[in-house]
Parts: sequence; structure tokens; C-alpha cells
Amino acid sequence: MNSHQSRPRRSFFKFLQQRLGDKIPDTLLPRRLRLYGHVAVLWLDPKILSQSEVVGKTVLEYDSRIHSVLRRTNPISGPFRQPALEVIAGSHETETVFSENRCTFHIDPMKVMFSLGNKAERERMSKLGTNEVVVDMFAGIGQFTIPMAVHASPQVIHAIEWNPDAFHYLQRNIRSNRVNDIVTSHQGDAAIIAPDVAQNQSDRVLMGLVQGTVQYINQGIVCLRPGGVLHYHEICPRPDACAIAAKQVERAAQQLDRKVRILNARVIKSYNSQSDHVVLDIQVD
Ligand SMILES: C[S@@+](CC[C@H](N)C(=O)[O-])C[C@H]1O[C@@H](n2cnc3c(N)ncnc32)[C@H](O)[C@@H]1O
Repeated sequence: MNSHQSRPRRSFFKFLQQRLGDKIPDTLLPRRLRLYGHVAVLWLDPKILSQSEVVGKTVLEYDSRIHSVLRRTNPISGPFRQPALEVIAGSHETETVFSENRCTFHIDPMKVMFSLGNKAERERMSKLGTNEVVVDMFAGIGQFTIPMAVHASPQVIHAIEWNPDAFHYLQRNIRSNRVNDIVTSHQGDAAIIAPDVAQNQSDRVLMGLVQGTVQYINQGIVCLRPGGVLHYHEICPRPDACAIAAKQVERAAQQLDRKVRILNARVIKSYNSQSDHVVLDIQVD
């Protein structure tokens, strides 16, 4: 199995500079490479799109583990949070496998998203949930579900996902990490399924949708037993991103006659020039 390595050993940029410096100015060379097993993903400056192939072939030479080089063509979008990429060099067989925090993830980066930048949050989630009833409303391929199931051993995790491709890899990752006895997967709309399977019964609800999570707060809250914890992810404008997200949850809780206590709030990463991706841990009584 290829192991995951988000920052390759040799300096990627220096390598490209040495190989391509006579063809492409430094300022236009990609500076960062993301590795998912044998698949490398990068973003190319629009000014060098005509040289995609030569860049791609050079990236293949950078590390013998890389079999496919993909370029991001557009941001992740739509209700299924789908990535937009194209193969610029190497194999079109882009299904791959990598490991992180002693978990195995099968994925096709052409079809489903996996934000390597959220690694610290996945590690944090892997330490929570022991013996608990957990709902992962927007499970993806199991980014939070798998580490939590592998390392914290909850009583049950209800992992909900509506994108058929993501659901396929979620099920595969449940099997390959041997957590079938802990994780129950549900394909469909979390707004309907979450309250259906866990109303008033959950100790913890993960809301890792990112962008638009606000419209699902009520369904997340109603799953929680008094004292349960919501992990609320949202994109909010700077500089008060955490405070704005907190207000969204407080408002919804008030309408449901529930009290909230903010346990923790932090910026996970900058999302764009105006907004941050934040996560709030909120106790709901
Ligand atoms: C941004 S991905 C995040 C995956 C993972 N939670 C993480 O934080 O890395 C969000 C996932 O939620 C799924 N999703 C969005 N709305 C949903 C809904 N109403 N019901 C079920 N899944 C949904 C999308 O298909 C996507 O796979």
C-alpha cells in the first residue's frame, strides 16, 4: 500500500525549478503537491495550461510512487461536494488507497473530495466518542467516521451520506478498516435520516458539511440527548467567523427550546480571501 504523504520529501518546487526553469518562470510553477496514494493533485496557473503535459510528466519523475497527475480545474462544488479535475499525465486509473493516522482510505480523487488540510481535525475526532452513540451527518468517505471508529470505539456511529460515489467509498473504508460492528452506514438525506435513526439518543453529532451547514442545525440538535455535543463546521466571514457560527447555532437552539454552551471554537483554515472554515464544539442541554 502506498502511504499518504502530503508534503513530499524533496522540495517539490526546487525539483520543478531544476527541471523546468528554462521553460517556465518560477512565479508560474506550482508550489504545492497533494498526494493521495499513487495520485498527485496540483493546481496550475492558467498562464501555463498549454504546458500541462510537460509539467505532468515532470511530476511523474519526481516520485516513483506517483502514477497519475491531476490538475484542479474548478473548486469543489454542488450538493455532492464534487471535485473537478483532469488527468494531465500518467494513468487514468485514479482509484487509489492511502493511510493516515493508522486508518486506510480508499478513494478516487477524480470523483470525491478529501481535504488533506483537515488532518488535525480528523486526529482530534479520533480521540472522541468512546462508548457513545454518534451521528456523522455528512460522512463523505468516512473522514471522521473511520478514525473515530478505529481509535475511540464508540458504541455506534450512524454515518450518513447521499453522494453515491462517496457512499461507495464509505462502505469500502468501513470494510477495509474492519469497523462494520461499530459503523452503520445510511445512504440518503441527513435531514431526514439523522432524526429518524437517532432522535434524542446521540451523545455526539458531527456536522462536517462545510458551507450550508446552517440549514441543517435543527436536525443536528434534535438528535442530541441533553448534554450531548455538536461539532459544527461552517464557512463564515472574517474577522468574526467563530462568533457568527456560534450565533447561528444559538438561534436555532433557542427556537427548539434547548440551551447551548460553547465548549470550543477555532478556525480550521482560511477558506478564501474573505472567509474561514471554523469548527465549534457545542454542548446542547
Ligand atoms: C465537504 S464533504 C465533507 C466530508 C467529511 N465530513 C469531512 O469533513 O471531511 C460533505 C459531504 O456531505 C455530503 N452531503 C451534503 N449534504 C448532504 C445531505 N443533506 N445528506 C447527506 N449527505 C450530504 C456530500 O455529498 C459530501 O460528501
